[in-house]
Amino acid sequence: MLVSSFEYKYSSINWKRYLCRLRSRYGSVFKTHVLGYKSVMISNPDAVKLVLVSSAHLFKPTFPSSKMRMLGKQALFFHQGDYHTKLRKLVLRAFRPDSIKNIVPDIESLAISSLESWEGKSINTFQEMKTYAFNVVLLSILGKDEVLYREDLKRCYNNLEKGYNSMAINLPGTLFYKAMTARKELAKILAKILSLRREMKQNHDDLLGSFMGESKGLTDEQIADNIIGVIFAARDTTASILTWILKYLAEDPTVLKTVTEEQEAIVKCKEECGEEKDLNWADTRKMPNTKRVIQETLRVASILSFTFREAVEDVEFNGYLIPKGWKVLPIFRHLHHSPDNYTEPEKFDPSRFEVAPKPNTFLPFGKGVHACPGNELAKMEILMVYDRPTRRGSICSISSSQKWFPHQPLS
Ligand code: HEM
Repeated sequence: MLVSSFEYKYSSINWKRYLCRLRSRYGSVFKTHVLGYKSVMISNPDAVKLVLVSSAHLFKPTFPSSKMRMLGKQALFFHQGDYHTKLRKLVLRAFRPDSIKNIVPDIESLAISSLESWEGKSINTFQEMKTYAFNVVLLSILGKDEVLYREDLKRCYNNLEKGYNSMAINLPGTLFYKAMTARKELAKILAKILSLRREMKQNHDDLLGSFMGESKGLTDEQIADNIIGVIFAARDTTASILTWILKYLAEDPTVLKTVTEEQEAIVKCKEECGEEKDLNWADTRKMPNTKRVIQETLRVASILSFTFREAVEDVEFNGYLIPKGWKVLPIFRHLHHSPDNYTEPEKFDPSRFEVAPKPNTFLPFGKGVHACPGNELAKMEILMVYDRPTRRGSICSISSSQKWFPHQPLS
């Protein structure tokens, strides 16, 4: 089936509904044009598995060149093969549960200081969550050194972000030019941190330490591209899910009560055992109801609605031909909203996760060689920020005048 992006561009409906309409009209695998590229959209669980896992080597990641220039061409998510494998190992080392365990108290401190700074104020939740998510990812990259560089890095990163979706015209005064300038400044700050660490000759178990410890050596440029890439992958995705969770908790008193009781029970149990009140890693493993709220929010909100790949050769799947050079878009949102995979898919119902979803129908963090290495960190920062407000009863129903402007980070 051929569907033009013209219909999307000039349609008054929003693009998520547009995608759903295409799926109901043409099924779970169909061809179309996206931004002028010949593309195949897939939302059949087996086809998604083929693209992301079993034949992942036949589908390379693909991004517009302007985005690659801005984030840094050597960021791992632009690559496949040996370079990607090497980088991914280093990133996973910094974000595996063992490494995150060590920074749980620091994440909690960041959560507490964010919560305290919001007290008595009217806030833009998404913007505040962005700040919190930025501070947490910086902590995982630079360890406790992050406070020294936080404000400068934040200023540069915000300027970079403003130009991310601008026209790629690199002339003084344009948003793109300002973003590229901010990117250079970010690289300079990171180069300074690298040289200080080399002088001090200390080992660090944060992401920068993992990159610097690579025996075959990464260039400073490769390190900078990957640090900027990780910030990009981590900040708005996590801030988005944090914002959606607040909306769902505030709208559903029954779910809120379940989460509150679970959090209170953990603290009570710690008190009775004479343990400190602060949450530790082991506590976060005892929160099945809270975990299901996170899962259901990830499903309903589908933060990354889809991802992009490109076929490196002709590929056949169940009688369909995906020609070489065509873009392939696994649509996570369709997997998550299909009545074939979830009963009443539009309903927010965390209890559905009491039973494990069917294989390849729940992929909020992707799957396969490019699956999200930061998923444990993201879940940890969510738990840390919602633990106290639920216990204190400071999440209450939202008035009907409250407006939600759902944010969708772009792939
Ligand atoms: C709720 C928050 C998050 C969501 C929903 C999310 C989702 C995803 C998804 C779907 C992918 C796979 C994209 C693809 O296959 O093309 C991905 C990749 C990635 N994510 Fe996340 N992510 C989140 C948070 C984070 C955090 C906190 C970090 C880092 C600390 C992170 C770092 C990355 C990186 C580096 C990749 C690229 C991996 C690779 O190409 O090998 N993400 N993420």
